[in-house]
Amino acid sequence: MSTVRVTGVLPGETSSDFSALSESLAKHGYAVVPGFLDREVGDALLEEAFTLWEDGEYRRAAIGRGDEQKVRAEIRSDHLLWLDEMALSPGQKRYWDRMESLRVALNRDLFLGLFDFEAHLACFPEGTRYRAHLDRHRDSEARTLSAIVYLNEGWRPEDGGSLRLYTDRELGVDGPWIDIVPEFGKLVIFLSAVFWHEVLPSSRDRHSITGWFRQRVEDLPLL
Ligand code: OGA
Ligand code: MN
Repeated sequence: MSTVRVTGVLPGETSSDFSALSESLAKHGYAVVPGFLDREVGDALLEEAFTLWEDGEYRRAAIGRGDEQKVRAEIRSDHLLWLDEMALSPGQKRYWDRMESLRVALNRDLFLGLFDFEAHLACFPEGTRYRAHLDRHRDSEARTLSAIVYLNEGWRPEDGGSLRLYTDRELGVDGPWIDIVPEFGKLVIFLSAVFWHEVLPSSRDRHSITGWFRQRVEDLPLL
């Protein structure tokens, strides 16, 4: 399978003009935006993330929700730290504000009815991966858009750890894909329910912040 030409990639956008991003989302269902996060905000986030990582504040990621949660390192081996909207650090607050302006712009342009946002810091330690999956939980349709921002300085394609996004909604993992290099400040955003994706094995520690914009739907009981 060869890699298709990247169609959803946009030049870096400035401040709060998200129109090219909206257009790409409407047309392709995904968008890749290098330079989405300002250098200053990215630096602040990364510095804080490093400290939290080194202090052992991240937890091993599990699969599933509620009672079904299990750590399955053969499927995913990243470590997470959920952000608490009520207790954001200065860097996290600036990231959160930027995502909030994006949420408002997307609701205005695409009528998505996004009402809520959740996010976690993630680190894939050297040698780890996350196999192909969809982001929507089996028991809730709330997650609408997945938005990942990368925090890796000087990342080269040969460092691995690319996000492989399968771009054909019907064919999924049997169809074409694009590989997105997790470079500092880059945003990738896609419809959570339809795009299969995976994180390829990485040969360096790989830092990112992953968020989901949610729609207002009733979560089914977890029992
Ligand atoms: C996830 C995920 C992709 C990435 O956290 O669900 O697919 O590139 N992350 O970090
Ligand atoms: Mn995912």
